[in-house]
Amino acid sequence: MTEKRAYPDLHEHLDALRAKGLVHTIDRPIDKDSELHPLVRWQFVGGMAESERKAFLFTNVVDGRGRKYSMPVLVGAIAANRDIYAVGMGVPLEKIPATWDHAVAHPIAPRVVERAVCQEVILEGAALQGEGNGLDRLPIPISTPGFDAAPTLTATNVITCDPETGVQNMGTYRAALKATDRLVVRMATRVGGAGGYQHYLKHQQKGEKWMPCAIVLGCPPCVAFVGPQKMPIGVDEFTVAGGLVGAPINVVKARTVDLLVPAEAEIVIEGFIDTEYCEPEAPFGESHGHIALEEFNMPMRVTAITHRRNPIVLSYISQVTPSESSVMKRVAYEPLFLSHLRGVLGIKGVKHVSLHEPLTALRRVVLVTYEQGTQRSEIWRGLYGAAAFKSDTGKICVAVNDDVHPDNADGLLWAISYRANPAEDIQILGHRGLGHGPRREHGKKEDATLLIDATMKEPMPPLALPKEEYMARARSIWAVCGLPPLRPQLPWHGSVVGDWLPEWDEAAKRAVLGRYLENGLISAAQRKKGVKPETKFRPPAKGERE
Ligand SMILES: Cc1cc2nc3c(=O)[nH]c(=O)nc-3n(C[C@H](O)[C@H](O)[C@H](O)COP(=O)(O)O)c2cc1C
Repeated sequence: MTEKRAYPDLHEHLDALRAKGLVHTIDRPIDKDSELHPLVRWQFVGGMAESERKAFLFTNVVDGRGRKYSMPVLVGAIAANRDIYAVGMGVPLEKIPATWDHAVAHPIAPRVVERAVCQEVILEGAALQGEGNGLDRLPIPISTPGFDAAPTLTATNVITCDPETGVQNMGTYRAALKATDRLVVRMATRVGGAGGYQHYLKHQQKGEKWMPCAIVLGCPPCVAFVGPQKMPIGVDEFTVAGGLVGAPINVVKARTVDLLVPAEAEIVIEGFIDTEYCEPEAPFGESHGHIALEEFNMPMRVTAITHRRNPIVLSYISQVTPSESSVMKRVAYEPLFLSHLRGVLGIKGVKHVSLHEPLTALRRVVLVTYEQGTQRSEIWRGLYGAAAFKSDTGKICVAVNDDVHPDNADGLLWAISYRANPAEDIQILGHRGLGHGPRREHGKKEDATLLIDATMKEPMPPLALPKEEYMARARSIWAVCGLPPLRPQLPWHGSVVGDWLPEWDEAAKRAVLGRYLENGLISAAQRKKGVKPETKFRPPAKGERE
């Protein structure tokens, strides 16, 4: 029914995930209100490695009233982990940053098609009224049972249009179900928040009470990925999605609002946002790790729900990080930071940028990794650049060397402990916006920025772990002995870098061959009278020894 395309829709993506063994299918009845998200949550809090996470397809969904739904629910299918994200992108993991760079630099306009699978079933008028109809037909899960006040759409691409320029925006914003034909949408009002909110303000300024809006559920992955991506205001995210796949995205005119929606979407909820009245929304579990409490947000009157004949209801697992939401944002945001520091600011020595994920939810802690020996002024330029790039990201920016793995917060504290002198290597800058955080974070209007240079100020001795060859050998012995399974954590071995001499390497080689007595003879020859214990000693190079 839909025109040819160069990208998979959600059904094809699910097939690709299945083929790679990346889906758990749960056929037993699962209550979407109290069981579904907690079940998926276990793979984020159950001590599993990121690589072990999978998508969950629920084929037998019931609700708190005991009602059965025919539509399946899919969670984790866009970004339960990076492997799943890479399948959706259609490129290997290591090519994702370059794919994002290319897409942003080479946007492709969407193609308008006449007929689309997302409009195979159309619900309007009476079909939106009464229990079991309209939004109440959809198995929308509750994300944080015990705290959330409503089933909430999470895997959204919310489309609005700039009433002045006619350019559309598409962002991932949550929307709480309030009636069979009413939702409340939450668009962040902070600087650097939701692009859709800027459209809301413009409609208000023009005295227009109703803002057309389409909430798309279950986009083709390339379109889903641009929802949370941080694009400058005025960029139509459809063009970036086209850039991701190197071809136009098929779009179709929505039925009751003047907006273009992805032709291959699973479900589209069309309607109008009230720019005059707001309605309380939440509590809802937020990505900053606290429950968002009730706030006034934007009610949307639903005018149509369109969907495929066999739609899949997509839901993202968010709240405390790591989560599907944070994987999706992290993979998309980190390349933007790196391109900004390297490409725009031309900072020398930057190897990568990492947004710290567990609990801090990416926006608060930014790690900039530098080559060892990078000039101090470049390190600080990079820290200032990382802190200023996005208004809501980079409250704490730390410069490290690449012997510190960015996902190892213990390693980070180790580097700060031994490589940073608080009097010289720390700066606090004022005037940061509060960013995305619990509303009652503190009573102030502004936050500040903490910058730490935790790089080595001079070459330092190697990490005090056995060299890789010895750890690898021991690992095979471990396996042969039938000891419990290992989950190696970086760093798990030392390497010859930094302040280390060939003479010490030779001595270490002799020692593992049991020839330590030779080392004793060498050190005996260097005995010296009258030196204070703990005085530094450097063995003479081979030719200099008598
Ligand atoms: C699962 C998930 C839920 C999100 N919920 C919201 C939300 O409710 N409101 C919001 O403004 N941003 C939310 N975001 C972040 C936005 O999607 C992100 O800031 C994006 O840049 C918005 O696009 P825009 O800049 O075009 O508005 C969410 C992101 C994800 C991945």
